[in-house]
Amino acid sequence: MAVWVEELWVVVLFVQLVDKIMKNQSIITVKDLSKIYKTDVLETIALDNISFEIKKGEFVAIMGPSGSGKSTLMHILGALDKPTLGKYILDGENVENLDDDQLADIRNRKIGFVFQAYNLLPRTTTVKNVMLPMAYAGIDPKEREIRAIEYLNLVGLSDRLKHTTNQLSGGQQQRVAIARALSMHPSILLADEPTGNIASAQAEEIMAIFQKINKEGNTIIMITHEPDIAQHAKRIIVIRDGKIVTDSSDHKQKIINDQKNEIN
Ligand SMILES: Nc1ncnc2c1ncn2[C@@H]1O[C@H](COP(=O)(O)OP(=O)(O)OP(=O)(O)O)[C@@H](O)[C@H]1O
Ligand SMILES: [Mg+2]
Repeated sequence: MAVWVEELWVVVLFVQLVDKIMKNQSIITVKDLSKIYKTDVLETIALDNISFEIKKGEFVAIMGPSGSGKSTLMHILGALDKPTLGKYILDGENVENLDDDQLADIRNRKIGFVFQAYNLLPRTTTVKNVMLPMAYAGIDPKEREIRAIEYLNLVGLSDRLKHTTNQLSGGQQQRVAIARALSMHPSILLADEPTGNIASAQAEEIMAIFQKINKEGNTIIMITHEPDIAQHAKRIIVIRDGKIVTDSSDHKQKIINDQKNEIN
């Protein structure tokens, strides 16, 4: 074998090894984490000493009853809130040690957030809503508009570009929120009930988009109460009373069936 062929092989093997190591890297590490909301009269333990890890490129669904702590967890994962106790390591950074500017920077560069309550500006067009986080991230104005239109097309809203978001239905607003998150090309997509108000055919289309960006290597964490939607994820974490009660990719089907039975 010619020497250059051997060298080429060494390079190929090295690239494969690096790729494998990168894929196995933990992007999210949560250790003994608790979140306690305190008011003058009341203390609510929203998350109770939970630990788990999510690796780069995973697609995880978080399920569980109302009030079990799902949105609280998602806000912490999105660096929008800090834990009361315990550790949260995001892509190698201990979130506890970061100041507000550093947290905002991480959110801008890495995280796309689809909020349960959409969080859109009401008297602003869909295109401008989608463009806003890109403006914060310093993306070129022309590119912002091109991407905004591209992603609004992708979620089926090409005929609503000039509508303000208060002129849209709940499901349409939800799709604007999804377009806004995706247009940032986030390496981590956090979606809180992203299809809660969307008809099932369209929800399947949104899931196809999620699966495509997941195949491209992006990490997705999605809260859902719908077993059919959770089915699209590779791993399911079930939370109850602020604790993780099930976490598995290998008996995903059993978890889905259990959740279906619980709803019926
Ligand atoms: N800001 C807050 N102050 C006090 N308690 C809060 C606050 N936010 C959430 N909680 C409480 O923490 C618990 C978990 O709330 P969370 O919003 O995380 O639930 P969830 O699982 O997302 O529910 P749902 O499925 O209804 O969206 C609930 O008991 C809730 O009342
Ligand atoms: Mg919630």
